[in-house]
Amino acid sequence: MGINIAIDGPAGAGKSTIAKRIAAKKGYIYVDTGAMYRAMALYLLREGVDPSDTAAIDAKCQEADITIGYEDGVQIVYLNGENVNGYIRTEEVGRMASSSSPNPNVRKKLVQLQQKLAADADVVMDGRDIGTCVLPNAQVKVFLTADSHERALRRYKELTERGEDCDLAVIEQDIIERDRQDMTRELSPLKQAEDAVLVDSSRMTVEEVADAVISLIK
Ligand code: DC
Repeated sequence: MGINIAIDGPAGAGKSTIAKRIAAKKGYIYVDTGAMYRAMALYLLREGVDPSDTAAIDAKCQEADITIGYEDGVQIVYLNGENVNGYIRTEEVGRMASSSSPNPNVRKKLVQLQQKLAADADVVMDGRDIGTCVLPNAQVKVFLTADSHERALRRYKELTERGEDCDLAVIEQDIIERDRQDMTRELSPLKQAEDAVLVDSSRMTVEEVADAVISLIK
């Protein structure tokens, strides 16, 4: 097994920014597991599946072949062979991902892929259940969080920079609701692993957080 770093935490805590920074500094591969759940959600949306229809999610998720590759160090998610990076970062896909990710068949399929990636390389992987389920033996486990207002502000900035029209209060409500769904689901809920280090990024710079995580590597 190579070096495995697991970063879990709620939406908007800065997991992907930090994980990418660590990967670049240490020469590890960054694995964004949320992107895999989003690609699955995109497939379900395209198939017209209702987010509350568990049986349809069970059946349809078997038809989605999700793989990842890297181009110039950037993770590309392929859905049945199509590069879907450009389609998975919408609020609609995020909401569907939150509804479909608790499904056991969806998780089984994607966790297998994640474990295979970590077995073959030095990885920094971010998600919700990496330290608790996917990589229980990771050398470094971090639970990265920030208060919901700070997380909403970051998301608001990201969306407005992309030219999207949005409302800060709606974003914060959406974040609180997504946290609730991710933390209360039966299978692999978002929670801090017992051996994970808690990092609150609310008042820390990206560099400070990345250095704090790197300092945990033995
Ligand atoms: O981190 P993100 O917003 O891209 O994640 C999208 C959804 O996928 C989110 O609702 C939580 C879910 N997810 C999960 O259940 N397990 C993971 N390891 C990563 C994401």
